[in-house]
Amino acid sequence: MPKNIHLIAAARPNFMKIAPLYHALSNQDWCKVSIIHTGQHYDANMSDDIFADLMLPEPHFHLGVGGGTHAQQVGKVMMAYEDICMNVERPDLLVVVGDVNSTAACAQVAAKLHIKVAHLEAGLRSGDRLMPEEINRLVTDAICDYLWTPSPDADENLKNEGHPDERIVRVGNIMMDSYELLSDKIDAENAPAKYGLTEGEYGVVTLHRPSNVDNPELLKILMDGLIANSKKLKLIFAVHPRTKNNLVENGMWDQMQSHENLILIEPVSYAPFMSLVKSAKLIITDSGGIQEETTYLDIPCLTLRDNTERPITISEGTNRLVKPNELSKCVDDVLVGNWTHGTKPELWDGKTSERIRDIIKELFN
Ligand code: UD1
Repeated sequence: MPKNIHLIAAARPNFMKIAPLYHALSNQDWCKVSIIHTGQHYDANMSDDIFADLMLPEPHFHLGVGGGTHAQQVGKVMMAYEDICMNVERPDLLVVVGDVNSTAACAQVAAKLHIKVAHLEAGLRSGDRLMPEEINRLVTDAICDYLWTPSPDADENLKNEGHPDERIVRVGNIMMDSYELLSDKIDAENAPAKYGLTEGEYGVVTLHRPSNVDNPELLKILMDGLIANSKKLKLIFAVHPRTKNNLVENGMWDQMQSHENLILIEPVSYAPFMSLVKSAKLIITDSGGIQEETTYLDIPCLTLRDNTERPITISEGTNRLVKPNELSKCVDDVLVGNWTHGTKPELWDGKTSERIRDIIKELFN
């Protein structure tokens, strides 16, 4: 009998982490792999379009939890996923990825039902417990049987927290598998031209962290910074629903739309977004994954955060942490070429999903 493996897909950053693994497992005869979409992200451009880009099938199970407070999301996901495991299909292995609410919720369900559970992207730590994602990382790693890490700093964090060595395996960064899998499609997109942009003559912006966008004063400072910097370099800003809601509620949306060199767009799917990133002069972001993708592509990344759970993107890559009042200076640095080129960290090679497939096969033997 093939072994049942569940992959949890929940929010946008998860999809590019499960896609390569799904493709690596779905053609194996020793396992049956199912995608569980919790529904944490539900808009077409935050979910369905990205599934299509990544050549993922319709989710095998859809929990449809939608938005809500953290407790509501976690509670609803736990109840719905527990029901699947108890009454529909009990997996032999659950794989959760990343650090969103659904990651921690599903890991807890599995652990309590004595289902083996693996965390892909284990060990990342920002050290900042004000970030909901940091709580999710700590909770998830504490209860998972297998901890699959992207980088040596993650191994160290887990060892320092007392996780036994045999649970920790460095597998590399699966996001790079998605990029390599889709690289032809990304090249064919030619997304900059669709927005009237020329290679190397624009920057891409994404901002959605509660710490940046939920505080109206800080949001105003950041938006003023973008407006000012767009006079030096055209900026294309893919506005996350959380950010858009806050801009509208605080009366800043119309003003943001009135600047010729600041192009506001809805979130776009994976291939067009990576096409924009690939040809950009720089990226301004507070995302986690984009810090890694820019390191991989050797594009300057200005991360508007006080800390990062991905320090290797600074020590080996192209990332810098930037305070709001340093943004303009950092943009200038990039424009005059005062930015370090990075190297690709070890095992960020597009082969992480193959390594994990082999590990899982071995586990079942
Ligand atoms: C979540 C993740 C974050 C990840 C981000 C990527 C947690 C704690 N946070 O944050 O780690 O970086 O996703 O996008 O899990 N909304 C829509 N349409 C959607 C999804 C959300 O309109 O498809 C709205 C929600 O109703 C809510 C807001 O956007 O008002 C925020 O969504 P939510 O999923 O709560 O958190 P994110 O900020 O997206």
